[in-house]
Amino acid sequence: MIKAAVIGHPISHSLSPLIHQYWFKKHNIDAVYHALDIAPADLNARVHALIDDGYAGFNVTVPHKQKIMQLCDDIDDTARAVGAVNTALIKQGRIIGCNTDAYGYIENIKNNAPSFDFRNKRALVLGAGGAARAVVYGLLDAGFSHITLTNRTQENAQILARDFKNVDVVDWNTREKACIDADLLTNTTVLGMKGQEELPMDLSYLPDHALVCDIVYKPLHTTLIRNAQARNLRTITGIGMLLHQARPAFAAWTNIWPDVDEALIDMITARALS
Ligand code: ATR
Repeated sequence: MIKAAVIGHPISHSLSPLIHQYWFKKHNIDAVYHALDIAPADLNARVHALIDDGYAGFNVTVPHKQKIMQLCDDIDDTARAVGAVNTALIKQGRIIGCNTDAYGYIENIKNNAPSFDFRNKRALVLGAGGAARAVVYGLLDAGFSHITLTNRTQENAQILARDFKNVDVVDWNTREKACIDADLLTNTTVLGMKGQEELPMDLSYLPDHALVCDIVYKPLHTTLIRNAQARNLRTITGIGMLLHQARPAFAAWTNIWPDVDEALIDMITARALS
């Protein structure tokens, strides 16, 4: 039997078990996928217990995506470039750290805006946390020529920008005007998420052809997404990033590449809307 898990703190909100269990059932795989609440102080001991318990691997979520890197025996090129691990494989007792968030973010756009051409485009990215790192890496890797980054704490944006080429930082208070030449706008901050403050953002400077993405998926239609729709801009909600980032992880522990099918989208969307 394959054993996998998602580790985080808190973890009860995670939809990853539903996604992986859906695919295990669909592909008739004898497997379990647990949601494990692991406090930061217990990370080392609990992760080593997963090795002893014969786990094939685990997903990693807030707040462990960076700390887990210290426990990895090997880190793949993408995770190293992004600076965070969201998927860990266990092979012969060794932990291999990977990052599938950038893949999930780009694949979500490719699936929901198939005509969008990534080459030589400019983006405005809001936020400078772990999710912003995956988004910046994914956009540059997909062909974007320039990224403007803005974040409440400008220093965090500058630290992120130093790790990538073609990323400039602007003051958070100028974010609306910074939209003026953006082909794509992505919110990676927690603003707009259920229980958090709203994201104050006037979209009137954005060009008419711009694509607006929010990686927040609860609520599914954030104020940013609704304001963009009101302006007739193309929009991408965050649910697809969650679904697509799970695919390479599932393939890593089963050798089966799963699809994001309509039934899965409907099930997870219903949970995000509830
Ligand atoms: P994740 O790994 O999901 O990206 P994170 O690393 O905690 O999470 O990053 C959260 C992001 O939301 C950061 O860009 C953070 O800005 P700071 O670097 O200034 O902390 C941003 N954020 C959180 N609360 C915010 C708020 N009230 N206003 C603006 N930005 C906020």
